Amino acid sequence: MKPIPVPIHIIVAVDQEWGIGKRNSLAWYLPEDLAHFRKITTTVRDKNKINAVLMGRKTWESLPEKSQPLPQRLNIVVTHNKDYKFPEGVIPVDDIASVLSLLPDNIESLFVIGGAQIYHLALSQLPIESIFITKVFATFGCDTFFPQVDAQFTKKDESSILTAKNGPQYQFVRYSKT
Ligand SMILES: NC(=O)c1ccc[n+]([C@@H]2O[C@H](COP(=O)([O-])OP(=O)(O)OC[C@H]3O[C@@H](n4cnc5c(N)ncnc54)[C@H](OP(=O)(O)O)[C@@H]3O)[C@@H](O)[C@H]2O)c1
Repeated sequence: MKPIPVPIHIIVAVDQEWGIGKRNSLAWYLPEDLAHFRKITTTVRDKNKINAVLMGRKTWESLPEKSQPLPQRLNIVVTHNKDYKFPEGVIPVDDIASVLSLLPDNIESLFVIGGAQIYHLALSQLPIESIFITKVFATFGCDTFFPQVDAQFTKKDESSILTAKNGPQYQFVRYSKT
């Protein structure tokens, strides 16, 4: 079997119904979680490397224009549309399994950042090492949901329950394969 070139992680924020979004946007505004997302997905041990983020075309379009592409990370977007115009440096892919073979040598880790369709594909087709979940203790009437996680992922770390400046309580949890 070919060795896996880099560790692959999922990162997601969910509400109490495992909702992740509404009308192609996040259903909540939680600056503390945006900072956590930035920190987890940009941190590298080897300063000569960067991380890659893998997302679906809809999640790409949900990013604010100033964050297209997400800075300090190689942005890879999954789409069937070969004519879609992305900014320079963004890598389009039409097959999630091909992602591993096209990662350049300077990539330390790959983070799957959503949305629901891409989480589904990643959980079934990629060797996911860990899942970073921000649990938001509220419900937001989401229309898009995180898939059920396989029992082989078990909870490894959890933060205390924190309170956001703008109200909701939340917790950072990491699951990984046993
Ligand atoms: N809470 C969180 O942590 C979080 C994180 C990310 C996103 N979100 C939310 O999730 C929602 C978006 O999720 P989503 O599931 O609707 O969309 P998505 O997964 O972001 O993107 C779906 C798109 O990916 C492409 N795609 C899917 N499967 C493919 C395949 N097998 N081959 C090639 N391309 C494929 C298609 O693009 P084409 O149509 O162009 O072919 C499809 O329309 C938004 O509400 C967003 O805010 C939440």
